[in-house]
Amino acid sequence: MAFITIVGTGPGTKQYLIPEARQAIEDADILIGGERNLIPWIEQGGKKFYVIKAPVIEVVDRIKEHYEREKVVVLVSGDPGFYSILSFLTKHFDKEELKVIPGISSIQIAFARLSLTWHDAVLLNLHGRSLNILDNHLYEPKLALLTDFKNNPLNICQYLISKGRKHGSVYICSKLGYPEEKIATLNLGEKKLLIPEGIASPIVMVIIDE
Ligand SMILES: C[S@@+](CC[C@H](N)C(=O)[O-])C[C@H]1O[C@@H](n2cnc3c(N)ncnc32)[C@H](O)[C@@H]1O
Repeated sequence: MAFITIVGTGPGTKQYLIPEARQAIEDADILIGGERNLIPWIEQGGKKFYVIKAPVIEVVDRIKEHYEREKVVVLVSGDPGFYSILSFLTKHFDKEELKVIPGISSIQIAFARLSLTWHDAVLLNLHGRSLNILDNHLYEPKLALLTDFKNNPLNICQYLISKGRKHGSVYICSKLGYPEEKIATLNLGEKKLLIPEGIASPIVMVIIDE
């Protein structure tokens, strides 16, 4: 049976890729993914590349055109099991047609950098979603958030404060695993919240009641 390999590429640099993932990428005939996930591999000769853009449904046609004759590998950031295109692909292909290779999630790296466990954290995705997802989690003692350009650290902090949360350390974990990685710390109790220079997407936020 033909299958599609979905590879978790970790935070975005080759350093965090597990060996099975690297092998699958090297063996691929066609690599499909977001621009950021494809860039590290663009110089690999003899491969085709397809950048996923809206409407995402087009990726299904592209995969169907190729996967019976060629090795199709879909690259996702972090781990495929944690907010990725995997859930969408399971609606269009049988599970037996998908081979998933895990990756290190941005959340895992963020907690590792802070020397903290994440088994006791609430993990939420604000990437492309509404901030009111936070309403049921305003006072979580340990909260980790995927962010995006609109739901950025400043907007998220201001939202939490407007809803009544007045304390908590905020760790802004920017470009984890990249040479430009930076972790900035704020406190929700500060009078004026300032996001330090050098903070850029992608960003994971960790908020701790301490
Ligand atoms: C579509 S979600 C994918 C999550 C991914 N599957 C994971 O396990 O990390 C994209 C979000 O993940 C986070 N992210 C991914 N890579 C990151 C990195 N290198 N540094 C910080 N955050 C990252 C950001 O919040 C970004 O907006």
